[in-house]
Amino acid sequence: MTETQTLTNDSAPKWWSCTAPNLDYVPPKDFKLPPTLVPVTLNPRGTTEVPQKTTKDYTKVEYKWKHFLPYNTATADPPLTPFDHVDPSSRADPTKASLFEVLKNRKDMTPNIGTEVTGAQLSQLNSMQRDELALYVAERGVIVFRKQDFTHHSPEWLKEFGTHFGRLHVHQFGTHVQDHSELSTLFRDNDDSYFDVTTSGRLNTLGWHSDMTYEINPPGTTFLCALTTPDCGGDTLYLNAMTAYDRLSEPMKKLIEGLSAVHEGTRQTVTAYKTNIVRREALDTVHPMVRTHPVTGRKALWVNPVYTTQIVGLKKEESDGILKILFDHIKTGLDFHTRVKWEDDTVAVYDNRMVMHSVVLDYPLGTTGRRHMLRVTPQGEKPAL
Ligand SMILES: [Fe+2]
Repeated sequence: MTETQTLTNDSAPKWWSCTAPNLDYVPPKDFKLPPTLVPVTLNPRGTTEVPQKTTKDYTKVEYKWKHFLPYNTATADPPLTPFDHVDPSSRADPTKASLFEVLKNRKDMTPNIGTEVTGAQLSQLNSMQRDELALYVAERGVIVFRKQDFTHHSPEWLKEFGTHFGRLHVHQFGTHVQDHSELSTLFRDNDDSYFDVTTSGRLNTLGWHSDMTYEINPPGTTFLCALTTPDCGGDTLYLNAMTAYDRLSEPMKKLIEGLSAVHEGTRQTVTAYKTNIVRREALDTVHPMVRTHPVTGRKALWVNPVYTTQIVGLKKEESDGILKILFDHIKTGLDFHTRVKWEDDTVAVYDNRMVMHSVVLDYPLGTTGRRHMLRVTPQGEKPAL
């Protein structure tokens, strides 16, 4: 019996995540631990966490968010288990009356995507209002909440909150809060972060994607929280993939609705070996090119230039040509884009099924340019047309 199998039901976490013990799992013999590490026992949680490289040791200076500093974990985690997801929006009152009772100050950022909310705390929403929030986010794509106390709560509270929206995702190499691998961290104050490596040698830093579309159950309603933001820059761009689909001609819709495409997690992990520690083998997964939201019934374009590499069944030139048309379409459709300018304590809630996003790495590195974010990432259903 390995160390991971010693967790009993009594000690199992009350939040629902893939880190719950899988008693049937046998680590693959050829799992490759990063060469920079000494051999470790498989899955001894808490003993293999190492801090992300930063410009200085923030544990030794005054820093408000020390407890959310980024850590890598070197383990040989089992693959994520596919599951049937019941979306919280399926329980929502379509009028969202209970939610709007609280979210009185709402201002749309653009006609097609994005709404900004002030004067309300996400953390105070009850169960019914959280269901209605999931529906509202699916409709508007992204809702931006200002001046939140959301991340002032404990890691355990954050995980319980997130679990309302689905099983919490653990990234195969992304950094996370120490001892809480379900709480992803995005921390950039040095020049060899994952994002800097992926964008080096390119004309711009953009990479349009939905999060982890290579997973069998990719994320649904997602919470991205700003802890520390640069004085200027480091915005996140969002686009409405439902509008992107709607704009296509009927023959093009008909063509891609009959097709599936490959989403490569392995490509992301190859880059990650240069900057991060990989904890789980990556997947390449085939998904339909158009997916339908299980409750709103809206269709969204479900290919992105970061992870989608080929259309199944087509010749290479055919696949490359169609993907280029679709990628150019989403990149240039500024009339279904919006931009979130972060402030400390801003939380953006977005539906990863219905929108795509990209960080903008336009701010200087160094302590004045520090960007520290935390993401709670519930998984959704397996994409289906
Ligand atoms: Fe992302």
